[in-house]
Amino acid sequence: MGKHDSSIVSENAISAKAYDDFLALNWQDGSVSRFHYQWLRDNCRSMERFDVATQERKALTESIPSDLRATAIDSDGDELRISWSDGTADSQFDPAWLKRNAYDADQSPKTTCQRHWGAEYANALESFTYKEVMSDDVAAGAMIQAFELWGLIRLTGAPTTDREVERFADRLAYVREIAFDRVANIRVSVDPYTLGFTNASLPLHTDCSGYSWPPNVMAFHCLQNDVAGGASQYVDGAQVIAQLRQTDPEALRIMTEYAVEFRLWSQNADTLSQYPPVILDEQGNLAVLRYANWTVQPLQTVPFDVVPRWYDAWRALAARINAPENRLSYRCAPGEILLINNHRVLHGRDAFDDCEGIRHFQQVYMELDDLSGFRRIAQGKGGVK
Ligand SMILES: [Fe+2]
Repeated sequence: MGKHDSSIVSENAISAKAYDDFLALNWQDGSVSRFHYQWLRDNCRSMERFDVATQERKALTESIPSDLRATAIDSDGDELRISWSDGTADSQFDPAWLKRNAYDADQSPKTTCQRHWGAEYANALESFTYKEVMSDDVAAGAMIQAFELWGLIRLTGAPTTDREVERFADRLAYVREIAFDRVANIRVSVDPYTLGFTNASLPLHTDCSGYSWPPNVMAFHCLQNDVAGGASQYVDGAQVIAQLRQTDPEALRIMTEYAVEFRLWSQNADTLSQYPPVILDEQGNLAVLRYANWTVQPLQTVPFDVVPRWYDAWRALAARINAPENRLSYRCAPGEILLINNHRVLHGRDAFDDCEGIRHFQQVYMELDDLSGFRRIAQGKGGVK
């Protein structure tokens, strides 16, 4: 079909122009969105191809011919109708829906932005009232939105009762259970399987690197904290990776290229994964960071000739992680819950003296996907676009 114009009666689109491979819609705001015919047919909202009740696609994407063309484009009120070159049923579209779902170059990215931070965030830590979050979905949605942005936020005023953090997780999402504990008690143990259950200092790390999908979110609830020392340390891995890209791109390349083994185990459980310490997303931003020095197994997956450069790269990554300007130090008070993105934010603690006091935290894991879903529904953005 050759190029032709079609006027559409709509408060959104004012005209359509058909090209060989795509349709261009001119909007009232002066912008133009192009839609490939295959995309239009794939996302056709007509009853033959789309289930209205579930709002899910019925048609098979692979059934669309690669040479699909529009043979006619018409409008009927607010509806855009396209007839197809393969003779199958016409498609109808609401131009407003097309505007919301346009994918052309001028559309802004749909991924959530991250705000990077360093030591200065200690003075501006996003803070929310536990009681409000537990009783008001809108307040909970705002808390989750801030968490998506910063990767570390604080709740205040939580009861210091046993397993309150589990009730918090059940309210907003689900507890992500792991092999060790559903609700972990972080305190000095007589028979620790990991350094976390001693009074020793803990270097900055992420949790559960032995899983192929480490738990995404930690909720860290302070029940009692009257020991000397034991302040928590936090570092934004997203900032670390952005810095490493500037200071030592070769180190970043090596940290993303070679999988190594991470292992965390006890008498009854054994977790073992093989992944690069740093995984980036399509835009080159940090997606998943695995960094827990005591869980890295003897290197066997890095080529012999690369091993010296791998150690250089690890040192370069560690230097950014341990840089004082990146480190937020925070001493939790009873009744506070810190929410930590475990794929992004590292945590550690100073050593403490528990001779004359108790340091007791309870911790559960959750998944950010579930929290984000709660937020979308609370903000009225759940389901249909
Ligand atoms: Fe930890």
